Amino acid sequence: MKKFSKILIITIIIFAILAIIGFLYIKFMELPVIEVRHINLKNVQDGSYIGEYKTFMVKVVVKVDVINNEITSIEIIEHQCGLGKKAEKITKEIEKLQSLDVDIISGATISSKVILKAVEIALSEGKNRMSLIIKGVRSMGTLIVYATKYGCTEKCAVILSEKLTGEVDLYNLKTEKVLNLSQYDKVIIGGSIYMGRIQKEISDFCIKNLNLLKEKKIGLFICCMRGGDIAKAQLESSFPRELLYKAVAQEVFGGEFMFKKMSSIERFIVRIVAKLDKSFTVLDTSKDMSNVSDKSINRFAQRMNNVCLNE
Ligand SMILES: Cc1cc2nc3c(=O)[nH]c(=O)nc-3n(C[C@H](O)[C@H](O)[C@H](O)COP(=O)(O)O)c2cc1C
Repeated sequence: MKKFSKILIITIIIFAILAIIGFLYIKFMELPVIEVRHINLKNVQDGSYIGEYKTFMVKVVVKVDVINNEITSIEIIEHQCGLGKKAEKITKEIEKLQSLDVDIISGATISSKVILKAVEIALSEGKNRMSLIIKGVRSMGTLIVYATKYGCTEKCAVILSEKLTGEVDLYNLKTEKVLNLSQYDKVIIGGSIYMGRIQKEISDFCIKNLNLLKEKKIGLFICCMRGGDIAKAQLESSFPRELLYKAVAQEVFGGEFMFKKMSSIERFIVRIVAKLDKSFTVLDTSKDMSNVSDKSINRFAQRMNNVCLNE
């Protein structure tokens, strides 16, 4: 009997420990921010598009049919969802309202957002296809390829695009799937730095397309919070040597700390690093901060605009 009580107590303790670990894991991993962008259906070419989005424990693959600028059907091809099955009815709302601006299904927030994001990605492909058709055999333009986690690099890419002459397309490596590099003569690549490294999507993109990129006029930039020589070293270690060597513009644009969007672990890392490294000037983690430099963006744009394509 004594032995039985011992086993029972040990079992209860093990369960309690597992429950605490589970609770802390969910609390500290915090669910990622999923921002769903509005897509204007007038810019989407007729067709069937596949969109896939995966995040913390949820994966969704959808097929979206568009005819005459209307979503005619959304089919969920795959939904790995845990408890989020009931989110699937959100597709009916999207079809009814012809918009991604619909109410989230309560009790299935993450699955609802992942479905919305997958539909957005599918429609983006249709938008890309439409823009290729509209552009036809247009003169070659500039492409800004970027990757972002909290939106700083995207913000900088948009500001930069407004300062560049000629046609400029933006391409988010994390969300878009269809890219035809051969229609651009200038390619700008930008990413942000986490723990000293640029996002994997950027490194993979550079390696995969290195030969084609070597034929273009190249611009390279990073967003980060460190300054001076360290920032410069981060820029230089972010891109292949061949691209750095031939780039007509290279800049560190500065960065942002969006504390409210960060997970607890990230906030903790930033606080520790800021204590050890004085080039991070973090005073108050309850307020977002930015040191994005307009001057660097202007200088970069000027260099890209002045480059002679026959050089
Ligand atoms: C967890 C974490 C680690 C970071 N590590 C670095 C780093 O090693 N060097 C640096 O200069 N900036 C670092 N930063 C700052 C980011 O590069 C900066 O916030 C950037 O603006 C993020 O851009 P994004 O929103 O486009 O991803 C870090 C930020 C976070 C949250």
